[in-house]
Amino acid sequence: MSRNSERAKLYQNPPVLILGIETSCDETGVALYDAAAGRLLGHVVHSQVEMHQAYGGVVPELASRDHVRRLVPLARGLLARTGREVAELGAIAYTQGPGLVGALLVGASFAHALAAALGVPAIGIHHLEGHLLSPLLSSRRPVFPFVALLVSGGHTQLMRVAGVGRYELLGETQDDAAGEAFDKTATLLGLGYPGGPALSKLAEHGHAGRHRLPRPMIASGDLEFSFSGLKTAVLLLVKGADPNEQFRADVARAFQDAIVEVLVAKCALAMERTGLTQLVVAGGVGANRPLRAALDARGKSQGFDVIYPEPELCTDNGAMIALAAALRLQAGLAVGNAHGFTVRPRWDLAAAG
Ligand code: KG4
Ligand code: ZN
Repeated sequence: MSRNSERAKLYQNPPVLILGIETSCDETGVALYDAAAGRLLGHVVHSQVEMHQAYGGVVPELASRDHVRRLVPLARGLLARTGREVAELGAIAYTQGPGLVGALLVGASFAHALAAALGVPAIGIHHLEGHLLSPLLSSRRPVFPFVALLVSGGHTQLMRVAGVGRYELLGETQDDAAGEAFDKTATLLGLGYPGGPALSKLAEHGHAGRHRLPRPMIASGDLEFSFSGLKTAVLLLVKGADPNEQFRADVARAFQDAIVEVLVAKCALAMERTGLTQLVVAGGVGANRPLRAALDARGKSQGFDVIYPEPELCTDNGAMIALAAALRLQAGLAVGNAHGFTVRPRWDLAAAG
């Protein structure tokens, strides 16, 4: 059968049961999605956080090796738990990029090997497309078109999402990502990895207004971000200071207040500019409680709804990858790499539609 007729068959008879694999960084995620019923049957995530903690950050080689160790048992366990057989799988979706090259290769190799053995397609998915679409798995689903704020360890972007595969970049960070800024500032404050949750916890004991940090690009009139200056401002603040507990908490609070204020201001501007009424927040930083509270309050006063994925789907997971594959197939969109594979450690989402 030619490639074209194989693809045509795939779109006419989209697979029902899709296994989703996520291995782009430090979480091994496996999920089983029933595309006919539009239902997630189950998913599991193994976080490598503890393993990397000793090194203060993700060690790529250790990440790859751990994905190798975890993938098969996690997939087997999930199939057993959901009462499904491996032979029932109709497609294997995996994160093709962006991410750590070795970690991506583990997921891609696993997906292609299993797909070849079963005679089903392997579908490469853009990690951020997974994050963008993940709120569609929650009970409160957004309706296209909507604005999405992607705030993760590697990305800070505002996108206009017109439909599956129709993503327009409205603005993005010029340097550090929001999560990266959280992580680097946490390191400056002597907190472990990953820094975001730890910094946020410390900030709970901090007093608002004790230190004033800049709000980079808040008045730039566009939807671009910059966070590296904020981290430098924290560095100047802590250099030579007495690092007692209250001081650190006050600095954490000042940092979080600054970053939240910038993110909220840019989201508000994006809603105003696009005239849309739903804002979807995706990516790890979306778990930040003060950010959620401030976005909700702004949405209320400005007249837009803020929608978050379920907390367990905010961070990296295989469910969003399986879902993205199902939706792309249903929409008749190109799916990557049915034959042979490459991974894409750097990959622009707007170009992936
Ligand atoms: O989306 P994600 O799980 O992984 C990728 O980067 O793709 O995001 C991880 C990032 C890390 O930088 C982490 O510090 C940050 O999300 N993060 C948080 C919180 N939870 C996770 N940042 C601030 N507050 C949180 N509660
Ligand atoms: Zn992610």
